[in-house]
Amino acid sequence: METPTRIILVSLLFLLFIQSMAIDGSYNVVVLGAKGDGLTDSTKSFLSAWAAACGFPKPATIYVPKGIYLVKQAQFVGPCKSDAITFKIDGTIVAPSDYKANGNASFWLQFWKVDGVSIFGGLLDGQGTGLWDCKASGKICPIGTTTLGFTNSNNIAITGLTSLNSQLFHLAFNGCNNVKLQEVNISAAGNSHNTDGIHVQFSSSVAILNSNICTGDDCVSIGPGTTNLRIENVFCGPGHGISIGSLGKVLQEEGVVNVTVKNVTFRDTQNGARIKSWGRPSKGFVKDVLFQHATMINVQNPIIIDQNYCPSNIDCPGQVSGVKITDITYQDIHGTSATEVAVKFDCSKMNPCSGIIVQDVNLTYKNQPAKSTCTNAAGTVIGLIEPTMCL
Ligand SMILES: *[C@@H]1O[C@H](CO)[C@@H](O)[C@H](O)[C@H]1NC(C)=O
Ligand SMILES: *[C@@H]1O[C@H](CO)[C@@H](O)[C@H](O)[C@H]1NC(C)=O
Ligand SMILES: *[C@@H]1O[C@H](CO)[C@@H](O)[C@H](O)[C@H]1NC(C)=O
Ligand SMILES: *[C@@H]1O[C@H](CO)[C@@H](O)[C@H](O)[C@H]1NC(C)=O
Ligand SMILES: *[C@@H]1O[C@H](CO)[C@@H](O)[C@H](O)[C@H]1NC(C)=O
Repeated sequence: METPTRIILVSLLFLLFIQSMAIDGSYNVVVLGAKGDGLTDSTKSFLSAWAAACGFPKPATIYVPKGIYLVKQAQFVGPCKSDAITFKIDGTIVAPSDYKANGNASFWLQFWKVDGVSIFGGLLDGQGTGLWDCKASGKICPIGTTTLGFTNSNNIAITGLTSLNSQLFHLAFNGCNNVKLQEVNISAAGNSHNTDGIHVQFSSSVAILNSNICTGDDCVSIGPGTTNLRIENVFCGPGHGISIGSLGKVLQEEGVVNVTVKNVTFRDTQNGARIKSWGRPSKGFVKDVLFQHATMINVQNPIIIDQNYCPSNIDCPGQVSGVKITDITYQDIHGTSATEVAVKFDCSKMNPCSGIIVQDVNLTYKNQPAKSTCTNAAGTVIGLIEPTMCL
């Protein structure tokens, strides 16, 4: 066959092939050139799959077959024509092993302004150990990237995803509405720096369900502007526990309202149920929080409100927190504390905590009732309580 005819024929076949995929809106990253050998840079294929799915006017699917795919820093940007894009991932996606490869990017994989994205399955390996070692050695190191971020996005569902060894946070949601995470498995070493499991801020209606989070920093960290958050049936540990805060770093700050944390087991964590604010002026607040049915196993601070956070004593010594904390309920919290003080309410002198309800709490230290300490905190005690409550 002469070359021009051949080129035309091949082009035609290729067009037909692209069209045949587009008919049902399914895009397989391997068909688009990705290689599951763990070595070949497959970033472009993932981005082409995204571009095609995003531009498809109906529900679309991106399929990642079994295999290990090396993907560099990538942004999946909307808005899209498709209002339902599903990632079905049977394989592993790995970040470059050189922690300098992503430069100063904040995210390894970031979704931005998307609506209706679902992820089923998959393992994301952030290859963070090199960066943790760098940080632990005291050298000057990059901050690192968050493994998976959703920014200004709505109607997100993530089911059965595993995130391993993130450089920085594992999953982060910023400016999102209606997010459901289920059966998420997060794992990083207990001594890794800033590897928060899931971070939520400026977001509403986020649910984190039936998940397992072992990490070096907060299990879930809850930032300003979080409303209607539900965390249920989660295991945390090792790590720093579930933390509302740090809040009140700046003066003008949105509050945290309506958070429910239900049936969580904390094992060998630094904190259990924590609320933390900087000792600095702020208009921030926390309101309507329920911690219910928690099991503490060897937790250093099972129940703690700390409004005097001032790391390295920079920019805050001598100041008091402006963050107002009201209507916080602790109900059916039991287990063992790793320190004598199992309940600590250290609230702001200017804005005492109010409406704290402690009900059916039983925390022991070395088989003895633990202790509680209160500063500027007021509330109600209901039912059988150990330690005796200082409220
Ligand atoms: C990262 O940011 C620092 C400070 O802004 C800059 O010096 C450095 O060149 C940046 N590195 C990369 C890889 O962009
Ligand atoms: C979670 O991931 C870790 C690390 O890959 C694995 O050891 C563990 O079995 C997983 N757990 C579940 C419930 O999938
Ligand atoms: C609190 O959040 C839950 C979702 O976690 C929602 O169902 C409920 O309606 C919210 N309550 C109020 C008063 O907004
Ligand atoms: C509590 O959460 C655990 C997972 O951490 C789950 O196995 C258990 O079934 C949950 N219990 C209830 C009553 O939902
Ligand atoms: C608290 O738990 C301990 C150990 O399980 C038990 O001996 C004690 O009676 C419990 N106290 C209350 C008030 O339920």
